[in-house]
Amino acid sequence: MFRAKLISFMSLMLLGVIAVCCISGSSANRNVYRNVGPYKWRLDGWPSNREPGFKARISQNGLDFLRDVGIHMLQTKIQQLTIPDIHGKADVKVGHIYYDVTKMHITTFSIPSATLTTNPTAGGLTLKTSGVSIKVHGDWHYSTHGFIHISDSGSFDAGANSITLTVTLRIGVDATGRPSISSQASDCSFSVGGLDIKLHGGASWLYNLFDHDIGNAIKDSLNSQICSTVVDEVNGSLEDELKTLQVIAPVEDIIEIDYSLVESPSFNGSINTAHKGEVYPLGNKTECPLPVPQIPPDSDVSRMVFIWITEYLPNSAGYVLQNIGFLQYNVTPDNVPAEEKYLLNTSNFALDLLIPQINKMYPNMAMQINVNSTKAPVVKVASTGVQAVLVGDFTPYAILPNKTLAYLFTLSVTISSKVTVNFTSNNITWNISSFSTTMKAVHSAVGPFFTSALQLAVNTAIKAELVPKLNQLGAVGVPLPQLEGFNFTKPVVSLGEGFLKIGTDLTYTP
Ligand SMILES: *[C@@H]1O[C@H](CO)[C@@H](O)[C@H](O)[C@H]1NC(C)=O
Ligand SMILES: *[C@@H]1O[C@H](CO)[C@@H](O)[C@H](O)[C@H]1NC(C)=O
Ligand SMILES: *[C@@H]1O[C@H](CO)[C@@H](O)[C@H](O)[C@H]1NC(C)=O
Ligand SMILES: *[C@@H]1O[C@H](CO)[C@@H](O)[C@H](O)[C@H]1NC(C)=O
Ligand SMILES: *[C@@H]1O[C@H](CO)[C@@H](O)[C@H](O)[C@H]1NC(C)=O
Ligand SMILES: *[C@@H]1O[C@H](CO)[C@@H](O)[C@H](O)[C@H]1NC(C)=O
Ligand SMILES: *[C@@H]1O[C@H](CO)[C@@H](O)[C@H](O)[C@H]1NC(C)=O
Ligand SMILES: *[C@@H]1O[C@H](CO)[C@@H](O)[C@H](O)[C@H]1NC(C)=O
Ligand SMILES: *[C@@H]1O[C@H](CO)[C@@H](O)[C@H](O)[C@H]1NC(C)=O
Ligand SMILES: *[C@@H]1O[C@H](CO)[C@@H](O)[C@H](O)[C@H]1NC(C)=O
Repeated sequence: MFRAKLISFMSLMLLGVIAVCCISGSSANRNVYRNVGPYKWRLDGWPSNREPGFKARISQNGLDFLRDVGIHMLQTKIQQLTIPDIHGKADVKVGHIYYDVTKMHITTFSIPSATLTTNPTAGGLTLKTSGVSIKVHGDWHYSTHGFIHISDSGSFDAGANSITLTVTLRIGVDATGRPSISSQASDCSFSVGGLDIKLHGGASWLYNLFDHDIGNAIKDSLNSQICSTVVDEVNGSLEDELKTLQVIAPVEDIIEIDYSLVESPSFNGSINTAHKGEVYPLGNKTECPLPVPQIPPDSDVSRMVFIWITEYLPNSAGYVLQNIGFLQYNVTPDNVPAEEKYLLNTSNFALDLLIPQINKMYPNMAMQINVNSTKAPVVKVASTGVQAVLVGDFTPYAILPNKTLAYLFTLSVTISSKVTVNFTSNNITWNISSFSTTMKAVHSAVGPFFTSALQLAVNTAIKAELVPKLNQLGAVGVPLPQLEGFNFTKPVVSLGEGFLKIGTDLTYTP
């Protein structure tokens, strides 16, 4: 009974730690990677010569997968394309005619072979397709507007085959750390091998008109226009699209995670990107003074995607949250569950046994416990494991009848924990497997007391309350930025000195 109450009391003290680490943390997590608000860019923070806190790679396997997804999307999109009607006039055997080609739609579209590879020379990616074929069905109609009115109509099937397209996308980084994309005229080549048209109905001169005049016109116009359209599209729409990419993720109007590129991506058989990977106070690009661990060269291409996250990322978050005074929480009678309120009482017998002086000085009074992180929380990643250290002050007060707070004592507690890290369903997850504490009385207004008496109670409470709560949060985890529709599959997490590496494959669900 006593033990249970003692643990409950200590748990209540720990509520502050839980609140500091979790409540603030979990509300902070909620919005992490959602696109909120406009991109906030300040000129003072970039470019920076610091090491990247975050790196990523898409291997050739990943490019092959993206190519397949892309072709699948293209195939669906192309089938839904509406082709504008063609209206024209021509001088033919029967005289001056006006013709209309309408209701054209694509019946088949196939890309039998395509490659997407890195292009180290141009600094980007090259897409090559060949043997592409497309079939269109439509209606034709013509009439003369002369003295004798002649008209006729029917349908047709047109096919273009042996189409080849090669286009290179040059990918770099713009002044704001976002990827940039461009193509030059020389980066594109396109040709239609053959075009064949079958008319249903109509006279033979009409066939000639279609096959030669209209057919060749279409072929010529395709051959000359596709590339300029593609290049314009890349330089225009695609580049504009990238300009809206969110490389800064604000979290709850408090901090922001900076994923901007610190250098141009490299293209050497895989795409390699290096990102800031740092947390800043919102709207304040002050660099965190902690060292950024170096990610050693690694040529692993066994999975589609690799992500390296250095401990700098969570530690810069800890630094900022500590600096802005976010890691504080006051446990008051108003913010504890009703059934635990009785524990916040100077005459609570567990407390009475440990520090009887308190009840003598302030009998039967409500209490408040201020919990305050006194050092930025630190995460240390090593190949042997992950360690997290929290250091904070517990400061209980008696609440006098006139609501004035009477200071009791300050206990400084250091919690060192061993953490296992995993990656499940796009989220980084964690589990505290063991921990140890050290504590010392920093100051006391109620005379000396034995911290050793508190130690066991605090440890038990940490085990019973703090660890399960943190682990509950850890089981849900924090999501990594991800592209819509793509999921990570069979991820493998490995640890290095100062960083963790995730290797994963992708799946795509439209
Ligand atoms: C496309 O943009 C790039 C970089 O801005 C430029 O070098 C290139 O000339 C542009 N190409 C065309 C066809 O506009
Ligand atoms: C920006 O953040 C740094 C440390 O994170 C802090 O020292 C500085 O006062 C902040 N500046 C402003 C304008 O808030
Ligand atoms: C490609 O470049 C990245 C970094 O830019 C490097 O880590 C990797 O080992 C390189 N791969 C090859 C095959 O050279
Ligand atoms: C503290 O506990 C005592 C004994 O259970 C009770 O009489 C007293 O009203 C409590 N004080 C407050 C402020 O809740
Ligand atoms: C919390 O800790 C910081 C850093 O040690 C200190 O400056 C601040 O005064 C403390 N706040 C409270 C309420 O104890
Ligand atoms: C509240 O009560 C305490 C002790 O009775 C006294 O020392 C303090 O001055 C009072 N504070 C106020 C604001 O009345
Ligand atoms: C990591 O998570 C996967 C499921 O995503 C699970 O199969 C695996 O056992 C976990 N590894 C550890 C060390 O917990
Ligand atoms: C997490 O760690 C605790 C020990 O603190 C252990 O009992 C539990 O099985 C672990 N959970 C997972 C999912 O590994
Ligand atoms: C991943 O994390 C987010 C934010 O913490 C959470 O909402 C989501 O449910 C998590 N996903 C899974 C599969 O646990
Ligand atoms: C992909 O992940 C989302 C949530 O992150 C989930 O709802 C969805 O079922 C997953 N799809 C597949 C195919 O695993």
